[in-house]
Amino acid sequence: MFYSDDLIEEVRARNDVVDLIGNYIKLTKKGSSYFGLCPFHNEKSPSFSVSRDKQMYYCFGCGAGGNVFTFVMEYENYTFLEAVKYLAERAGIKLPEAEVTEAEKQARNRRQKLLDIHKEAARYFYYQLKSQGGANARDYFEQRKLSGETIAHFGLGYSNPYRDDLYQFLRNRGYDDGLLKDSGLVTIDEKRGAHDKFWNRVMFPIMDVNSKVIGFGGRVLGEGTPKYLNSPETMLFDKSRNLYGLNFARTSRQPFMIICEGYMDVIAMHQAGFTNAVASLGTAFTLQHGILLKRYTEEVLLAYDSDEAGVKAILRAIPILRSAGLRIRIIHMNPYKDPDEFIKNLGVDAFKERIEQAENSFMFEISILEKSYDLGDPDGKTRFFNAVAKKLLTFEQELERNNYIEAVARHYGIPFENLRKLVNRFGLTLPEREMPGENRPLPEKTGDRSGEYPEALLASQKLLLTWVVNDAGLLKKIRPWLGPEDFVHPVYQSVCRAVYESIEATGQIVPGQIINLFQEKEEQNLVAAIFNSDIAGIEDKNAREKALTETVVRIKRHHLDEMSRKIQDLSELQNIIRMKSDLQNLHISL
Ligand code: GTP
Ligand code: MN
Repeated sequence: MFYSDDLIEEVRARNDVVDLIGNYIKLTKKGSSYFGLCPFHNEKSPSFSVSRDKQMYYCFGCGAGGNVFTFVMEYENYTFLEAVKYLAERAGIKLPEAEVTEAEKQARNRRQKLLDIHKEAARYFYYQLKSQGGANARDYFEQRKLSGETIAHFGLGYSNPYRDDLYQFLRNRGYDDGLLKDSGLVTIDEKRGAHDKFWNRVMFPIMDVNSKVIGFGGRVLGEGTPKYLNSPETMLFDKSRNLYGLNFARTSRQPFMIICEGYMDVIAMHQAGFTNAVASLGTAFTLQHGILLKRYTEEVLLAYDSDEAGVKAILRAIPILRSAGLRIRIIHMNPYKDPDEFIKNLGVDAFKERIEQAENSFMFEISILEKSYDLGDPDGKTRFFNAVAKKLLTFEQELERNNYIEAVARHYGIPFENLRKLVNRFGLTLPEREMPGENRPLPEKTGDRSGEYPEALLASQKLLLTWVVNDAGLLKKIRPWLGPEDFVHPVYQSVCRAVYESIEATGQIVPGQIINLFQEKEEQNLVAAIFNSDIAGIEDKNAREKALTETVVRIKRHHLDEMSRKIQDLSELQNIIRMKSDLQNLHISL
């Protein structure tokens, strides 16, 4: 990252948190805070609070919280740098250009020109659709029941039946052959000259997550082959890293995303109000797609075609999505072919029902597996359950495995214990190495390592930090006993250091400023929680002193225990023992 801390702090300080969030949701003043309905979870009564004094927000319902950066990161799904840029612009702060090499500059330049070309091309196709020559294309969209609003929203267009129409248009705009070739929108060969890749097709601009056009899909009007033609991979367009519709779906605020197979499915779904639908771009689903989606959601629903090819595509996509750490369910489309046809025939409410009934992906896999065995035959049945038992072993966590054993047993009407024994028997014979790894989620992001530490210890540390941030005067009393190194979680360590420094330098703390030290949303949420925890109002001074002392002792003792396990040096060990005995007599008075 290349912006200085001071600059980032300036960006934060010049965007007031109440003003910013007030632009997104309705806030009502209550006491010293503002309250509204939380945009990050579904709720009927407001538990989302925004504080001007603290320059932060916190939801008492779902725990979302942070400063202005966190908010736009969570709401707009921006990265930290995108959030900085957005808020700098909002506050009229000019950010310095990064130092770049000549080669980087040229690449960036070229990329920008390619983006410009795509933007111009999209406008051109859109214009063709609206012009006289576009009547057939307009009819086609009408026949497919797309509204004018939908056409504008997705920027749909039409490419003329002339062979170098777009080429001439772009040449006149000053783009040279080299660039136009690289855009993938025209081919140029020496004998036949230049011609457009797309002609006489309805056009679907493909946009990246920031709604920049990076490629096109074109469909024949009616019958013909190939039915769809897509832009080739270019400097802008990487099919395995982009999803059609994600630029809209990412802000849909739904707890899940719906993955479809085709452009038309996505468009029909959005038109019907399912704005969380996306599609891969005429290619198989990749792990990169999965990881991209994981940025925005925990769960995906697959709305693939109901034919054999669709089922195969689902079976291929499931392990990929799983290894990206996503939960998966399958939406059944029968008796219709795809979401587009389903919605046209049965309507929105029927599709909502199908979403509710979406099948767990493991149960779906089992039901497909079942088809290759004859369950009417005792031998076939045995082999089937053996296969199921092996598959059940892919759940490494016992609780989860048992839940699935139970679900399968219930589904096939066999006793839970029988199936469990069968699974365990395979578990004894199957060496670890051979276990299919597809159920193993990716390692957690480095930002959140809370899983490594005991809950109770983390709770004590959080409590102590909460105390200090609520009463800066406590610092003097705690400082001799606890420093940042006594906190186990890296986030808590940094908070402790920042809080100590801030109190010493200015006598006070601005929570929004401390949250600035963290770039990951998860970390910012954790910090926000510290600043918004309620300290149980212990009235009695003695009881307060006792609670505070106990907390300090618990944290220090844990750290000393940790150290004594690692230390070899005898004199240091004696030091630790002495500190431990000092702790026994510790009493912090208020
Ligand atoms: P419609 O007939 O327009 O409803 O198509 P669809 O969206 O139902 O498409 P289909 O299920 O046939 O295909 C799903 C997706 O696969 C399409 O949206 C395209 O991205 C891609 N696709 C389909 N046909 C072709 C083709 O001939 N060539 C290429 N490259 N991609 C195709
Ligand atoms: Mn279709």
